[in-house]
Amino acid sequence: MTTTEAVTSDPNQAAEEALLARINAGELIEDMNDLTPRYRAILERTLEIAAQSEVTVLTWAYTGFAVAPDIGAKVALCGTIQDEVGHAHQQGMLYERFGVDMQKLAFEEDPNNYWSLPIMEFPIRNYAEFVVAQAFLDRAGRFTTWDLELHCSFAPYRRTLKKVNFEEAFHFRHGALWTKYYFDQNEETKKLVQDAVNWIFPWGYHWYGRPDHLKGHPDQLTYKVRKWTNDTMRAKWLKSATDFADRTGLDVPAKFDEEKQDYVIDGMPYPMTFDADKADWEWKETTWDRAIGNFKKGGPHAPRLLRTPAARGVGKQAVVSETAVRAALDTVMDPHMNVSLPDMGMVRRVDIDADGLVDVGLVFPCVGCPAWDLIQAELKQAVGAVDGVKKVKVKIEWHHEWNRNDITPDARIIAKEHGYCI
Ligand SMILES: [Fe+2]
Ligand SMILES: [Fe+2]
Repeated sequence: MTTTEAVTSDPNQAAEEALLARINAGELIEDMNDLTPRYRAILERTLEIAAQSEVTVLTWAYTGFAVAPDIGAKVALCGTIQDEVGHAHQQGMLYERFGVDMQKLAFEEDPNNYWSLPIMEFPIRNYAEFVVAQAFLDRAGRFTTWDLELHCSFAPYRRTLKKVNFEEAFHFRHGALWTKYYFDQNEETKKLVQDAVNWIFPWGYHWYGRPDHLKGHPDQLTYKVRKWTNDTMRAKWLKSATDFADRTGLDVPAKFDEEKQDYVIDGMPYPMTFDADKADWEWKETTWDRAIGNFKKGGPHAPRLLRTPAARGVGKQAVVSETAVRAALDTVMDPHMNVSLPDMGMVRRVDIDADGLVDVGLVFPCVGCPAWDLIQAELKQAVGAVDGVKKVKVKIEWHHEWNRNDITPDARIIAKEHGYCI
């Protein structure tokens, strides 16, 4: 028996060839039962990377919340986070049809195996950086998901990405609009935007990984899971991103080359490595192996670092005693009644974190109480004096109502002595 005969008589190989013939004839595969082992493995790997990378966008975007300058920007950030949760969920649901437990994959996977884009491992330094990243990187990500929506031979994946791509387009348009706004606003914001572009633009160009001549012809293309190669997507992104930069007045290391009649990088070594400590590119050309090794090392928010017990605060010693905080609250009075806030039933919540932040949730017996400011100032002073407290936050909990049963019986008697009948 020759090797060729051995291959063609292998039932698995025959099934792969039969499926490939259907795919090459333009048929879309709809039924899970039609998946061959090899096709199934390619789809699983594609989905795993896609779902996990949408999750790492969340931890990254969350770091932007603290630096968002106003409520509108914070709402936009929350909207993005909600969209990205949806993207992870949509692709995760499809992945579950392959028998994968997404709960486990999201929360119990060894973080060393978690697939993450390195740029998502760097906390956002200012809001300009966030909008610039949207303008350039959501644009980059969308070419990969758009290719899948337009060309994937597995029909359910195409449908899964419809909503995802609609929202990614919304993200990069939002990023483009605000990049222009901050670039034009004043000299200070213009510099913030240009600095962000210098950091983000090369990430967009490096987004798609190794060039085609070093990658060969991956199975994803053979089985038409995707159609565009890395080089095709990179060229599409370069054109789109450079046009946007030119329209906006941004300085980017790329241009339209009249001679070649094509978009080319201009003054940017490729590939290059970055310095994770400085969160900056080194602007020196390197080999692809070195560049990939550097990307894998990642940044300070790499999943393997975020998932450690210490990063989640587990095992940290509490520095503030709750008993001491409660005792301090007992000294803060409602000035109308001369009854302490806890006895008035006004303290609904005391949260203390491991860094010494105390967060107190209050309810007030009357809306528009004239003593609000006074009570809060006294509370902050009393609790702030407790050992280990770094900061005190007071939150009025509008969703809780105070009612007369919240006051303690003893306090009711004292209130009565002050002329209040509760
Ligand atoms: Fe997304
Ligand atoms: Fe996005």
